[in-house]
Amino acid sequence: MRLVVLPGDGVGPEVTTAAVRVLRAAFASRGLPLDIATRAVGWAAVQTEGAPLTDDTIDACRAADAVLLGAVGHPDAEHAPAHLRPEAGLLALRQALGCWGNLRPARVPDGLIGASALRADRARGTDLVVVRELGGGLYYGEPRGDDRGRAWNTLSYTEDEVRRIAHLAFRVASERRRRVTSVDKANVLETSKLWRRVAEEVALQYPEVIFESMLVDRAAMELALRPSRFDVVLTSNLFGDILSDQAAGVVGSLGALGSASVGGDTDLYEPVHGSAPDIAGTGRANPMGAIASVTLMLRTTGGLPELADDIDASVEACLGDGLRTDDLATPADASPPVGTHAFTSAVVDRLGARVSRRVVGGA
Ligand code: NAD
Ligand code: IPM
Ligand code: MN
Repeated sequence: MRLVVLPGDGVGPEVTTAAVRVLRAAFASRGLPLDIATRAVGWAAVQTEGAPLTDDTIDACRAADAVLLGAVGHPDAEHAPAHLRPEAGLLALRQALGCWGNLRPARVPDGLIGASALRADRARGTDLVVVRELGGGLYYGEPRGDDRGRAWNTLSYTEDEVRRIAHLAFRVASERRRRVTSVDKANVLETSKLWRRVAEEVALQYPEVIFESMLVDRAAMELALRPSRFDVVLTSNLFGDILSDQAAGVVGSLGALGSASVGGDTDLYEPVHGSAPDIAGTGRANPMGAIASVTLMLRTTGGLPELADDIDASVEACLGDGLRTDDLATPADASPPVGTHAFTSAVVDRLGARVSRRVVGGA
């Protein structure tokens, strides 16, 4: 597999270094080749190359099998002109690669129930995927701008854009608990009325999947009270951005969630969190989101689900043993939190132990 890594800003390099360590260990355990090139993106790229995303980087990403991105964003960039903003680099990359669908799984493993923002009985059993439309909506709508005390953005969706993300959601649900909740604001917005109509049409083609539409305000409430009722949450670019962070709160930390951005020339894998400037450089970043992104990569692009299973099981074993970074720590924990490097080493150790058990066991 040929992989381009874009570490980016803040904790981005810390969590991609961790995820690449785990990925290399997994590939080595099976004697598989892995070719990794690293390039700058975001504010780091503005510093070294004068732009948050260069054409060379886009070309390198297009030529790769997959891209792993850490995070972009920097406090110094707050007042930079729009074309030099780190976030513009990420949005341009998703667009250049043609990634229009974003899968953001959020699961509360047994070992993490105490870390959830929710009471244990509410958090238990949470296992959902936000299927977020990533190529359109309010993020890319034209016209946009600001002038003399007024600013504007455009929210627009075509039937085709909604149809393709809806099909993706139903395909994902078919492999899971077969339930799709399409989230919109159809009581107010024309785009949402179109969204709901197209989602209902697509639903007819998947009779084995239970379908419902839900207004976004209620969905936010349900996610806080009964998150285990959701399987696949199908929604637009902006609503998906917000609801996936809320789902991270249900799990216990934004640092714990990974994502896959699909549909284009090359799939892009990114943790859901940002550059976390408040903890960058302290060695405390949670690498779970970046590691989860790598397991999504192994399942989605790599066709290597058994490697992904090994990594997921190793992470869960660490959590079960009480290991966690301090974003997931609680007063009830028996031992103090560990840093990014120690957590990653523990994952790599358990990965090695699983592999040698298999070799000894002859499987
Ligand atoms: P953030 O995700 O960077 O941080 C929010 C909170 O979560 C912070 O308290 C942070 O410490 C914590 N957190 C995030 N990731 C963590 C991790 N791996 N381990 C432990 N704790 C973690 O969101 P923000 O503060 O709203 O944004 C900061 C910058 O990141 C902004 O510039 C924003 O644009 C950017 N951002 C980038 C992406 C991306 O690259 N995909 C996503 C979100 C935000
Ligand atoms: C995310 C981020 C990005 C988004 C920003 C940084 C452009 O919040 O990946 O969730 O809004 O998509
Ligand atoms: Mn976000």
